[in-house]
Amino acid sequence: MAAIDPRLCETTSCPTNIACIKYWGKADRKFNTPINSSVSVTLNQDDLRAITTVVASKDFSSDRLWLNGEELDINDVSKNSHAKRFQTCLLEMRKLAEDRIDPNTGDVLVRKEDWSQYRIHVVSRNTFPTAAGLASSAAGYACLVFALSKLFQVKASLSDISVIARQGSGSACRSLFGGFVKWEQGTAAANWQDSRAVPVASKEDWEDMATVILVANDKKKDTSSTSGMNTSVETSPLLAFRAREVVDGRLAAIEKAYRARNFSEFGQLTMADSNQFHATCLDTYPPIFYLNDVSRQIIRLVHAFNDYYGEIRAAYTFDAGPNAVIFVLKKHQSALLSYMLHYFPPPSMDATPSRFQSFSNRPGEVAVALDTAVDPGLIAAGDATGRTPVPGDVKMVYLTGVGDGPRVLTGDSSEWLVDPGTGLPKDNMISSGAEVEQDDKTDGDGHMGVAGQVKNLSQRIACLERSLTHQFSKLERLLGPATVPSAQTVMANLLRFSTLYLAFYGGLAVASSFAKGASWKWRK
Ligand code: DP6
Repeated sequence: MAAIDPRLCETTSCPTNIACIKYWGKADRKFNTPINSSVSVTLNQDDLRAITTVVASKDFSSDRLWLNGEELDINDVSKNSHAKRFQTCLLEMRKLAEDRIDPNTGDVLVRKEDWSQYRIHVVSRNTFPTAAGLASSAAGYACLVFALSKLFQVKASLSDISVIARQGSGSACRSLFGGFVKWEQGTAAANWQDSRAVPVASKEDWEDMATVILVANDKKKDTSSTSGMNTSVETSPLLAFRAREVVDGRLAAIEKAYRARNFSEFGQLTMADSNQFHATCLDTYPPIFYLNDVSRQIIRLVHAFNDYYGEIRAAYTFDAGPNAVIFVLKKHQSALLSYMLHYFPPPSMDATPSRFQSFSNRPGEVAVALDTAVDPGLIAAGDATGRTPVPGDVKMVYLTGVGDGPRVLTGDSSEWLVDPGTGLPKDNMISSGAEVEQDDKTDGDGHMGVAGQVKNLSQRIACLERSLTHQFSKLERLLGPATVPSAQTVMANLLRFSTLYLAFYGGLAVASSFAKGASWKWRK
């Protein structure tokens, strides 16, 4: 593979978002437009984000995509919906392409009309485990479209390109802005060009807002959002009622509450809408169950917390999965965390910050929260919900807050996910057990087919093989080339080859145990 021109490379990052008034149901499946408008809070990308590098070259034989270290087949759109969504975004962004100008020299690097001769490599990853079930496809598609907009030096606004991001995944359009964001439903009369994201308030408008995210299950969900909402539209009278009678009033009220920083109003509407969304899932035929027992216990505990303080201090919301995003003002975040950790202690109680590295993005705060005594009155209120502490019921805890919109990272080449020498993913992009979130590799029951598993297992082994070969040659460079044998060099070479031998077979042993233990959880 020929070296790429680094001037034709862009790297960007995008946040994820959590809806307070939910999108559930498509008005037009082809354009991926919703039956009602929705609003969301953008989460801080310093904690959770997607990073994407796009690079263009005439030498590439086809457009390619790597997600979390796995290459996905994006060229056969008949085989999977993921390929179709990706190709739509790429095609629509290509239509907006302008001349690419070198900012340093003013030279035209690619003329607008010549982009069709270039193929694109896209390498993307999430900095948070997909197992956390946190709308990674929203961050991913927003990041893809944003990175392409930079590569093609698109002049259209973020709101304009959100029209394209929503064709990748509906909720993705809202990740193109920070703060509090609305996705306008749009109209068929305008060819759905008005179905787009618009910023309502910036992150600075409510900096005190924080979230505690409780991962109640790190297994893949049974029903993807796309198929779940399609069945709901076809079968749930409650969903039709909600879209017609309830959502508009809630949207107006929550926008007002957010602007006025009225937590009580904001929290009440957020919880009510989450509950109604899950009620429409139950009203779907056959019903869809996204919440589990742990989710329901979290709901009861949040209400007990609010009742104890006599005001709404915490507000849960659940997307299409059992994991809770709990809004809370910063001043109450540690009290809520100690309370929740009392009932949902980590799998291991060795309360040192390093022990919680795999449990939380802020292990130190978790350790402190576990050491902080919870008000006995609050515990009595929590106990009255019937919950008793069980370690490991909550798999991970993420602490974050409201964040800004997409960022350009191109200036810092250490952030690039593509190796400029090859145009392929960097070695450190090789999968380390990260999971890929999509639904098109699953069978009708949502399980990944054996063929898919074998294909991806072999991809993963191929990745490991490449990594080992790379490490092997690095080691060889370090130890120097073999020399003409002499008494001294025979010893040196003996040492050299035994080291290489050990490194290679040690690596193979790791690869084989990894392959055995690999678990394949695909989402969406
Ligand atoms: C429950 O945006 O994932 O998170 O458009 O089919 O890709 P597709 O669906 P997706 O659905 C998100 C649903 C939700 C609510 C929301 O984010 O508004």
